[in-house]
Amino acid sequence: MAYENITVETHRHVGLITLNRPKALNALCSALIRELGQALDAFEADDEIGAIVLTGSEKAFAAGADIKEMASKSFIDAYLADFITNGWERITTCRKPVVAAVAGFALGGGCEVAMMCDFILAADNAKFGQPEITIGTIPGAGGTQRLVRAVGKAKAMEMVLTGRMIDAVEAERAGLVSRVVPLAELIDEAVKVADKIASLSRPVVLLAKEAVNAAFETPLAQGIRFERRLFHATFATEDQKEGMAAFIEKRSPAFRNR
Ligand code: HXC
Repeated sequence: MAYENITVETHRHVGLITLNRPKALNALCSALIRELGQALDAFEADDEIGAIVLTGSEKAFAAGADIKEMASKSFIDAYLADFITNGWERITTCRKPVVAAVAGFALGGGCEVAMMCDFILAADNAKFGQPEITIGTIPGAGGTQRLVRAVGKAKAMEMVLTGRMIDAVEAERAGLVSRVVPLAELIDEAVKVADKIASLSRPVVLLAKEAVNAAFETPLAQGIRFERRLFHATFATEDQKEGMAAFIEKRSPAFRNR
């Protein structure tokens, strides 16, 4: 498929989506969000793909929702179109793991899109922020909720009320990103991590992702119960038999996604 605002590649079993609106620092216009959804649909449907990496440019992962497109919307425009539920949350319904590889600015909707991914790898020049308050609005794609769960109330509240950006080191210390890597190594490292995930048992990876996500949406006792059931379910897979047999026989497992 020909895209105008993103590029799409595959690296072995990894689908790489690169946001590509350099003149607007990858501002997330509706056409870009539509294309991102189409690319995710295509990778989800492709049996060869086991994990997805979402990245931007060295200067900007994404500098937010497109302010020029959004500026003149009325309440009725925003409400009737369900701005932004429409399209944006496609990332959160992706069953295959999605790794955000963030370099440069991840601001507003850009930070929110990164947080919709399963985890964030940051380049050492990454900057995260929710600057909406400085342009007279508030985060609208989950920023007030996911940021609090990632970094806690104090830091999230300061960021949302002031628009202060945090750098990669602060983001790692606060738990927003899993790791910081040198800018020049970001894409290789993200693809390597995604490829590792893609090399494992597909059904067991999906179960693991579901279980971790349950921690965000359920009380502890219910989450533990859910985990226990999924853990039990892994024993119904051929891949669990293969993985454990391979360990005992001191060889590499050959997972068949069964
Ligand atoms: C539209 C944007 C944009 C955005 C940058 N650009 N961010 N266009 N929407 N969010 C455009 C600029 O207008 C400019 O275009 C070009 O990209 C380069 O940007 P500069 O500002 O010249 O670059 P620089 O001086 O390096 O500053 C970088 C920056 C700044 C600090 C990231 O661009 C900035 O503050 N951007 C806005 C950040 C923001 O407020 N994001 C939150 C948006 S609200 P021209 O044509 O002038 O060269 C949001 C709400 C989400 O995300 C809620 C859910 C939808």
